[in-house]
Amino acid sequence: MGTDDRRKIIIDCDPGHDDAIAILLAVASPKIELVGITTVAGNAEVDKTTMNALKVCEIAGLRDVPVAKGAGQPLVRRRETASDIHGDTGMDGPELPAPTKTAVSEHAVDFLIRELLASDGDITLVPVGPLTNIAMAMRKEPAILPKIREVVIMGGGTFGNWTPAAEFNIYVDAEAAKIVFESGVPITMFGLDLTHQALATEEVQARIKGIGNRVSDFVVELLQFFMQTYKEVFGFDGAPIHDACCVAYCIDPTLFGCRKLRVDIETKGEFSYGMTVVDMLGVTGKEPNANVALQLDRDRFWTMMVDTLNNYAKKV
Ligand code: RIB
Ligand code: CA
Repeated sequence: MGTDDRRKIIIDCDPGHDDAIAILLAVASPKIELVGITTVAGNAEVDKTTMNALKVCEIAGLRDVPVAKGAGQPLVRRRETASDIHGDTGMDGPELPAPTKTAVSEHAVDFLIRELLASDGDITLVPVGPLTNIAMAMRKEPAILPKIREVVIMGGGTFGNWTPAAEFNIYVDAEAAKIVFESGVPITMFGLDLTHQALATEEVQARIKGIGNRVSDFVVELLQFFMQTYKEVFGFDGAPIHDACCVAYCIDPTLFGCRKLRVDIETKGEFSYGMTVVDMLGVTGKEPNANVALQLDRDRFWTMMVDTLNNYAKKV
């Protein structure tokens, strides 16, 4: 029996068009063992993001991976959602059947704690929504900290998309982000400086459409809706698949250029609340606490995406 060298990950998410693509990429990759999916309020209320996660599992044919519902509110601030980007359901656009799968009864925070404590310290957490669940788990059971292999976060950047200073995931719960970034666990951060390079243009969408299976067709529908809102809101000519970059890193870290930098989270500023203060020049003299992804090998990234989505069964 060969050793299973797949990378074990738990995706904590707020589906979310790009969250959905991240999940579908993880499921299809032979290099990933998806231990579980936990959900959090973010793009939409947590009941909606949980329903969306279950719908994505259904279309992926994912039966045996637990989905655990998590926090419905940030730790301190009032909840904000991104309905202008993802629609009222959190994943507007594609029409999907009701899922047959249901969420487990265990709260996401307890699921994370139990799985991490029972592990050999080989689980990577991949939070691609607000960091509320991760922070709550760290506070509830600090014994998980040495059991976390790495936290690969979609969030932050040297500029914002929710305020001029703050990216949405960090802004929604900056207090949670502060807890995670100060926890001392190994962090790799995928901020907007990187994820805006992962732009699914019409040309990329045509390549994915050419795959011709149910899942790739679903991905194209997600991208068409997501690109439309990014065109209207930000003037982009493509859909940045933010969250999928984190799973792509777990599949092949050589797709990315990263730098070890100090990142502090602003939780007080009138104009800067939720900012990831990235010390690009090392002027603070503080010890780096994050591996910050800054450069994407676009050609190899999209080739990996298309090749991996090809692994889903052809339409019958
Ligand atoms: O700012 C982009 C992030 O916010 C992505 O994770 C997207 O899904 C939304 O949650
Ligand atoms: Ca997300």
